[in-house]
Amino acid sequence: MFKYAIIISSDKGAQGLREDGCIPIILKCLDASFELVHSIIVMDEIADLQKATLHAVDDLDVDLLIISGGTGFSVRDVTPEAISPLIEKFTPGISEAIRAYSMTVTKKAMLSRAISGIRKQSLIITLPGSPKAVEESLIYILEPLKHGLEIMIGSAKECARKD
Ligand code: MTE
Repeated sequence: MFKYAIIISSDKGAQGLREDGCIPIILKCLDASFELVHSIIVMDEIADLQKATLHAVDDLDVDLLIISGGTGFSVRDVTPEAISPLIEKFTPGISEAIRAYSMTVTKKAMLSRAISGIRKQSLIITLPGSPKAVEESLIYILEPLKHGLEIMIGSAKECARKD
């Protein structure tokens, strides 16, 4: 079972001005192979996003961290800028695949600046903030995502055995 956490980047959500629609969608899309251990809604602020990310990765040691929102062109959209400095290995194929598939649904998908990558033993995937975009993205990447997580976790165990 993969342990995962969710961070929603949304000024309105964090202030209780908008009901979050993404967490239920993520719960629906990630099947019985995934266990949600933590979720939080934060302001669209670099410091808040980084604090929540470091908690999920460094303290909770999740296998997967999904961050939704803040990937667009608004001045308040800072998710890629917050997360990029925390990533040790970028996984551009995941974000490229999401954008490529999403553009078959809507050309507006090209407006997402989402990125993804690995920090320690956690895969971090940023997604756009609309529940529709989250659903379209996760359904498309689910099978290869599981394979990637298995490799990431399995190779870490192998390295630990050799030490
Ligand atoms: N991707 C998918 N699959 N479906 C969508 O409806 N919306 C796009 C894009 N990616 C969309 C999508 C739009 S309209 C925007 S502005 C960008 O994601 C950025 O979204 P964000 O600012 O909520 O992160």
